[in-house]
Amino acid sequence: QLPPVLTIDGPSGAGKGTVSRIVARHLGWHYLDSGALYRAVGVAASWADIDTSDASALVRCTFDTKVQFVEQGESLRVLVNGTDATDELRLETTGALASAIAAISEVRAALKERQRAFRLAPGLVADGRDMGTVIFPDAPFKVFLTASAEERALRRHKQLKEKGVSVNFEDLLREIMARDARDAQRAVAPLRPADDAVLIDTSGIGIDDVVARVLGLVPTQG
Ligand code: C5P
Repeated sequence: QLPPVLTIDGPSGAGKGTVSRIVARHLGWHYLDSGALYRAVGVAASWADIDTSDASALVRCTFDTKVQFVEQGESLRVLVNGTDATDELRLETTGALASAIAAISEVRAALKERQRAFRLAPGLVADGRDMGTVIFPDAPFKVFLTASAEERALRRHKQLKEKGVSVNFEDLLREIMARDARDAQRAVAPLRPADDAVLIDTSGIGIDDVVARVLGLVPTQG
């Protein structure tokens, strides 16, 4: 029998990453940040000077890109072809690049088995856009996190400010809305909740409450 999976899907900035990591730690389960895989391909493609319009080169790049997740104390570092690309991975430009690359069906197909390989005992928390719909449709626990675009832009703005990055709020909001539209309208694996997902709107709710609600879905083991 396959280990259980808890899928946490939703648009960028809904709090998926933070919630997923805390929940995974609580349960003692593995964690898959699937967005990081798409971002890693984006970074590798930009290192190799591949044009975003060159789909076949991007597909080849997807097969060739080695991604490793390394725990370093509290933080999770991501190595792309052996180089620590954690900071570059988080850039807005990388997110936009990932979103463009993620619209290519062969890229998604190339990453499918790699994502499924994270399903190891005692369980997996999988964070992304299509975890509950495409990658782990048989997952026993599915969550779809949302928040208004304004709230998500505010959170991102605050995060960036704390890191000393100054960005214009209006620009951020526009970028978030453009990325949402692209992710929701693409032909392959568009962003939508699985029919059997529990919807949680995180606008105005603290992380602790969201975590408690998500943990409440998973019966305690043993
Ligand atoms: O979640 P994150 O912001 O890191 O994802 C970056 C981009 O990768 C998203 O905008 C989306 O287009 C794509 N993505 C995806 N499917 C996933 C995870 C991410 O298409 N499972």
